[in-house]
Amino acid sequence: LRPAPKELPSEIALETMKPALDACRRCAIGPCATQGVAGEGPASARVMVVGEQPGEQEDLKGRPFIGPAGQLFDQCARAARLDRERIWLTNAVKHFKFTPRGKQWLHQAPNAGEVKACRWWLDLERQLIKPDLVVAMGATAAASLTGTGKGLVERAGQIETLPDGTPCLITYHPAHLLRLPDPQLAQARQAAFTASLRRAADWPL
Ligand code: URA
Repeated sequence: LRPAPKELPSEIALETMKPALDACRRCAIGPCATQGVAGEGPASARVMVVGEQPGEQEDLKGRPFIGPAGQLFDQCARAARLDRERIWLTNAVKHFKFTPRGKQWLHQAPNAGEVKACRWWLDLERQLIKPDLVVAMGATAAASLTGTGKGLVERAGQIETLPDGTPCLITYHPAHLLRLPDPQLAQARQAAFTASLRRAADWPL
């Protein structure tokens, strides 16, 4: 366990992470979101998969990757035989950042300060799960874990080593794949994404 910042309970375990996240005010996103979205999976998970931040559906239900990006993740994970029940699935930022537009809540990417503030939670999850492999999906997860989210296309499919020695596989974010206007490029990147998930499923082979 790791000592919590002043406004949080003095010790946080996986079981107490959700209420502590709900109360988190380490950045300005927390008070605007419906709730905090904690990572999900067994404490024994050997692979940790990290996305960007909850979307609208995740914000409303309090679970990671259950909206459109989550559905594509599930589809590719099934093809890769990466069992969602056996991984720790989480986000670099634990609250949904959005701008209201009429009845819609439009997703807004978290800024560097928000990613940095929320890294406290990601570090805590890594300390509690101790995964053999971390998978960074997209630039925000890569930035939080490695210190830079730049050059993601060139880095996708590669393994980088985090300062504590944990290998980190960089790959695309499923929401990015959904947004690509060129179907051929989307198909190629989805195949590369699935290949990365297969590598994670077979880890450490
Ligand atoms: N995108 C993410 O990065 N995380 C989620 O939980 C959902 C969408």
